[in-house]
Amino acid sequence: MTHLGRHQRPFRETADDQVPFPELNPWLHRWVEFGRPAVRSQEAMELKGRWREAFERPAPVHLEIGSGNGFFLSEFARRHPELNLLGVEIRYKRLVTAALKVRKLGLGNALLTRYDAWWLDDLFEPGELSGLYLNHPDPWPKDRHVEKRLLGPWFTEWAAGALVEGAPLWLKTDALSNVDGLLAAIEGQPFEVLARVEDIGANGCPWPVEDEIQTNFQAKFERKGLPVHGVVLRRSAS
Ligand SMILES: C[S@@+](CC[C@H](N)C(=O)[O-])C[C@H]1O[C@@H](n2cnc3c(N)ncnc32)[C@H](O)[C@@H]1O
Repeated sequence: MTHLGRHQRPFRETADDQVPFPELNPWLHRWVEFGRPAVRSQEAMELKGRWREAFERPAPVHLEIGSGNGFFLSEFARRHPELNLLGVEIRYKRLVTAALKVRKLGLGNALLTRYDAWWLDDLFEPGELSGLYLNHPDPWPKDRHVEKRLLGPWFTEWAAGALVEGAPLWLKTDALSNVDGLLAAIEGQPFEVLARVEDIGANGCPWPVEDEIQTNFQAKFERKGLPVHGVVLRRSAS
């Protein structure tokens, strides 16, 4: 599985004592010392194929990519005690903010790890995920950044492998380029489009209304009166 946007070298988290200027990012230490729901990157790699056991009790594992400040992760996990939810995020401050939400709510079915979304194939065996959520992934709108857009062929090939048949994939985004990119990239992959809604504020969301959870970035766009769009896919039979 190759893609130009994927970095040459695999993602490997720098060990705490190898960070050149640790005082520049106090959130790094906060994260390293956090304990559950934080899962260190090395442990995340070792959990490949065993994620169900990493949570308080075994249940189907769903993944949110780019979980940011954790509004969706914590609230979706609270509303769905029947599933386990893992958030993957790259920025320390956002990870800590999200982990604090999970801890405050006392959720045993939500975990967070620091990992690069371009290397998610490190973390999951085929069919290990039962649901996938993307809320406002970075759109990289400039043409010269096209290779940085996650929602392309590499991503859908990976997602088709990681998701079990029947699993949902939900995308919420302010950028129609993300919608178009995802729909173009499922060409030839085992996904069916169940719903696509432009401007969910005006036209209603494509997922159950009780699962509509406003995220940090969504709130920013909605405050400016900008539309937010939604897509629901289903991993179909191969
Ligand atoms: C526009 S923000 C959206 C955050 C949140 N989902 C929301 O809706 O408020 C995109 C998020 O993806 C994270 N992100 C960007 N590239 C990533 C990568 N390669 N791996 C993991 N997370 C990434 C960013 O740090 C950021 O928190």
